[in-house]
Amino acid sequence: MKKKINNIILFLLYGITSGFAFLVVRYGWVYYKTPLFDRPHHPLHQLLKPGGLYGHGLGIIGSAMILLLFLYSARKRHMFGLHKGKMSSWLNVHIFFGLMGPVLITLHTAMKFHGIVAISYFSMLAVMFSGIFGRYIYKQIPRNPAGDALSTEEIAEQDKHLTYLLVENYHVPPQTLREIQKISGAQLAQHQSGFAALWTIFINDLKRPLLFRRLHQSLLQQEMKIPQDVMHRIMKVARQKSLLIRKRAFLNTILRVFHYWHVIHKPFAYVMIIIMFLHITIAIALGYTWIF
Ligand code: HEM
Repeated sequence: MKKKINNIILFLLYGITSGFAFLVVRYGWVYYKTPLFDRPHHPLHQLLKPGGLYGHGLGIIGSAMILLLFLYSARKRHMFGLHKGKMSSWLNVHIFFGLMGPVLITLHTAMKFHGIVAISYFSMLAVMFSGIFGRYIYKQIPRNPAGDALSTEEIAEQDKHLTYLLVENYHVPPQTLREIQKISGAQLAQHQSGFAALWTIFINDLKRPLLFRRLHQSLLQQEMKIPQDVMHRIMKVARQKSLLIRKRAFLNTILRVFHYWHVIHKPFAYVMIIIMFLHITIAIALGYTWIF
């Protein structure tokens, strides 16, 4: 229930922020399309230029969002007394700020990328896009609902439980269990590492809906009559099991890739934040204090 409420809040926040960004783009569309040279003569220049009333405000909100996303790191290390809340929820908030902050900062720049602060801007984009990739790798590590990685024993326990459900509760035949194993693609893990393994996982994710539809049809064609709601539950457990088997098989490779991903993701974040602070300090020193 709490998860559902959190998801609704997050959904609303995405809706409000992207709706707001959309309205800004609509309002300033002609200005943003005007060549830099002609912009000072445009009626919206005083409002939408990076130091203008709206442009500057967008920069402040966007930067605040970028700073707030670092709360995830603080929560991870239990800094500033932060130890409450699931890591998965904190990561969702991190991602919200990590996606929406750059959108507002892009509007703040008014698409004018000059000087050293451009390094900060492009580092921010690099971290944002690498974050999307990182999120995909993060999801390949078996986790509990709170977002904590499962131990080898916990993975084995979960697999045993899912097999028990399929065999004892739903009387799924051994041939279907073998099919679930095959769909998982786990057998390919022995021969692959690094990007080849990631590619296999990605292709497997693309093919899974089709493979499960086939499994569904083959179960329907079997002699036994399975009620629709039971079939629905069987397919749900089968999906969970096949995904778990795959994640377990590729785990060592994924952990290594995720480690290297951190090595790239973090430095870009630090370069971005250092230059961002320099930029803000210089702007305040030059008297750009917005409405304050
Ligand atoms: C400007 C935007 C962003 C910045 C500055 C940023 C910064 C960071 C930093 C510094 C970390 C390391 C946290 C730690 O281990 O202490 C991190 C982790 C992470 N970020 Fe981002 N991020 C941004 C955007 C995103 C986006 C857009 C996504 C996903 C769509 C994302 C997903 C992740 C994931 C999955 C982790 C790893 C979590 C973990 O290992 O516990 N980030 N980010």
